[in-house]
Amino acid sequence: MKRSAHLMKVFLTRRIPPEGMKILSAAGGCEVSQWDSDEPVPRTELLRGVQGAHGLLCLLSDKIDTEVLDAAGPNLKVISTLSVGFDHLALDEIKKRGIRVGYTPDVLTDATAELTVALLLATARRLPEGVQEVKNGGWSSWKPLWLCGYGLSASTVGVIGLGRIGMGIARRLMPFGVKRLLYSGRTAKPDAAEVNGEFVPLDTLVSESDFIVVSCSLTAETQGLCDKAFFSKMKNTAVFINSSRGAVVNQEDLYEALTSGQIAAAGLDVTTPEPLPTNHPLLTLKNCVVLPHIGSATYSTRGVMAALSARNLLGGLQGADMPSELKF
Ligand code: NDP
Ligand code: DGY
Repeated sequence: MKRSAHLMKVFLTRRIPPEGMKILSAAGGCEVSQWDSDEPVPRTELLRGVQGAHGLLCLLSDKIDTEVLDAAGPNLKVISTLSVGFDHLALDEIKKRGIRVGYTPDVLTDATAELTVALLLATARRLPEGVQEVKNGGWSSWKPLWLCGYGLSASTVGVIGLGRIGMGIARRLMPFGVKRLLYSGRTAKPDAAEVNGEFVPLDTLVSESDFIVVSCSLTAETQGLCDKAFFSKMKNTAVFINSSRGAVVNQEDLYEALTSGQIAAAGLDVTTPEPLPTNHPLLTLKNCVVLPHIGSATYSTRGVMAALSARNLLGGLQGADMPSELKF
């Protein structure tokens, strides 16, 4: 980056993978300060650290709202988030202030789709329960109906939000012998033809699917979408999977659906809150598999995400193109 008389001030809310740090160091021209920890920045430190910053590199766990933007002040030109999800950013307020936003679409699609398929299989075929039984002596012999679950062969899968990750999931599931692939969302997707996807109303998807996978973004419209009414329309044998955002699901209603036998099982990579308290009722259930938001967690993906978020930040600081700028 071209050296200017005044260094651009940048605040990073966390340690990020070295691929991103290398790019920022090589660029020069900016004075980088950082919450130098693997744990989230406390709010007071965020409000302090962002003061006078020209650029902010944040994570999905940092709520970037009016208070943070006010604390940053008028210098702030760019916010780069190390995520494809941007529900933690107060976009209306950010737009009003003319601040640009960078994010990390595409580069995490494969890793997240892969993890979602792993979660679906683990949940439907009861893998965590089986592993536990082997360890705790519950495996007494081969029994005809012990630890039976549900298979994908000849099944109907419903994907809520057939975007980049939703398509990645659908592409990976079809070779398992899925018979019908339903999807719902705001608009029909031309590339759905590749997976014989049928664009259907949400109610149809919910009542006809054997597996429901939620991969939409969290918006005002999708918040609490999967509630009592939703679960009550699902088949008793159906498996529910969410790898989008926890707030799409009403967790009390999900708990009720899982304990009453309304649905067969659920697999969640995302919850509200994160982390889910260890005494949360969902964690007492054998038919609920909860992962700690690891959809994009491969070494290479996180490295590429860090590099992309660093480049987005630099592009925004320079008033140049950003490799992945959010248009909003
Ligand atoms: P995309 O923007 O490509 O896809 C989002 C999809 O959500 C779109 O197809 C959109 O459909 C759909 N959608 C929006 N509103 C609704 C609605 N009301 N009902 C149904 N569908 C809706 O994003 P990505 O696929 O890249 O990422 C999706 C989300 O996955 C992210 O926003 C993030 O929250 C989550 N994520 C989670 C990860 C994890 O670690 N578990 C990792 C990465 C992402 P339409 O185009 O018709 O509006
Ligand atoms: C995202 O990018 O939005 C995920 O939740 C984490 O990779």
